[in-house]
Amino acid sequence: MNVKKKELLGLLLLLSVMWGSCARSNAPLDADEALDYCAHQVERALEALQPRSYTMMPRNILAGDTQEGWNCREAIPQEWCSGFWPGVLWMAYDHTGDEALRTEAERYTASLEYMASRPAYDHDLGFIIINSFLKGYELTGDAHYREVALRAADTLATLCNPTVGTMLSWPRHVGDYGGHNTIMDNMINLELLFWAAENGGGNHLRDLAVAHAETTMQHHFRPDGSCYHVAVYDTLTGDFIKGVTHQGYSDESMWSRGQAWAIYGYTMVYRFTRDERFLTHVRKVTDCYLQRLAATSDDNIPLWDMDDPRGTAAPKDASAAAIVASALIELAGYVEEADAQRYRTHAEQMLADLSTPQYQCGESSVAFLRHATGHHPAGSEIDASIIYADYYYIEALLRLHRIEE
Ligand code: GLY
Repeated sequence: MNVKKKELLGLLLLLSVMWGSCARSNAPLDADEALDYCAHQVERALEALQPRSYTMMPRNILAGDTQEGWNCREAIPQEWCSGFWPGVLWMAYDHTGDEALRTEAERYTASLEYMASRPAYDHDLGFIIINSFLKGYELTGDAHYREVALRAADTLATLCNPTVGTMLSWPRHVGDYGGHNTIMDNMINLELLFWAAENGGGNHLRDLAVAHAETTMQHHFRPDGSCYHVAVYDTLTGDFIKGVTHQGYSDESMWSRGQAWAIYGYTMVYRFTRDERFLTHVRKVTDCYLQRLAATSDDNIPLWDMDDPRGTAAPKDASAAAIVASALIELAGYVEEADAQRYRTHAEQMLADLSTPQYQCGESSVAFLRHATGHHPAGSEIDASIIYADYYYIEALLRLHRIEE
């Protein structure tokens, strides 16, 4: 493509992003109806979880599975998704007020408590505790949930390396990457540190979170606002060594969920810090995602990796769309009206697409959504229902419903 053509294409993409149109589905979205659908699927999922074990957490329903119910995994620190199902139950309870759902949420949440005071296996302790204990605390104000979350924050903080300025995301992979590794997903877990600092856990936790966000902002992004999945640092000097991928198509590609974690993570960091640097950054990271989405996808749901050379023949990742939709609804609350409207429109279009029969499982299984992709390079959970796609979908719907009200 010659330079003029490239410039023209860039301009057209930018315009489509600015107007929030993207020539995508304009299916109307009824957030309340979609939330009722989620509550119905949760009821069905609970029925299918028989005999019920509160230490077995729903994880996925794979393409080709013939059963309606979830495949479950044991709630251990190595199972990073352990907190999502309790979180889904808490949010279904939030929507319905059904006390039976609250009881189930409490029981599944309780089985994760032991992780709060064991040595941290990795950064995913944040995902596990934020989605279960923090969600439960927000909804019930239960002092025990607060105490467990505070303990977990202290445990998570032990992964921080002050020389580097970030958490060591995967202690088990230091040898593989040749240094201290920090993954973009880790941004989400800063919420536990920020929250703890505001709830009696000590200001040092906030300092660690801010340092992590600043260091990541400095090294983990390319000039266009796209991000690496993994940043590798020298453990002893703190020097940045390289950016690589773990779950993306290539080191330089845009792994959609990685970019989604960045959008969600920096929006949350701005919520706690009100530091304009983070807001400016997240807007750039978001606009980069939206431009690439418009250029590569035939709807508002991204390919699992925006650089997969198969283009629209490549699997999608509904989870990335749900994460971004949830983040955009929050981000819309931090910007002036024209941009707020633009972000909200994008979020609604993403949720509208996710709420069509193409992406909703309906009666075919108990999950909310299909077409998520977990770890494509490992050949795992490709084009599947995955519990975290459901978690961010219901969270985004609740956020939207709240602002509509
Ligand atoms: N945190 C792992 C993933 O996003 O797949």
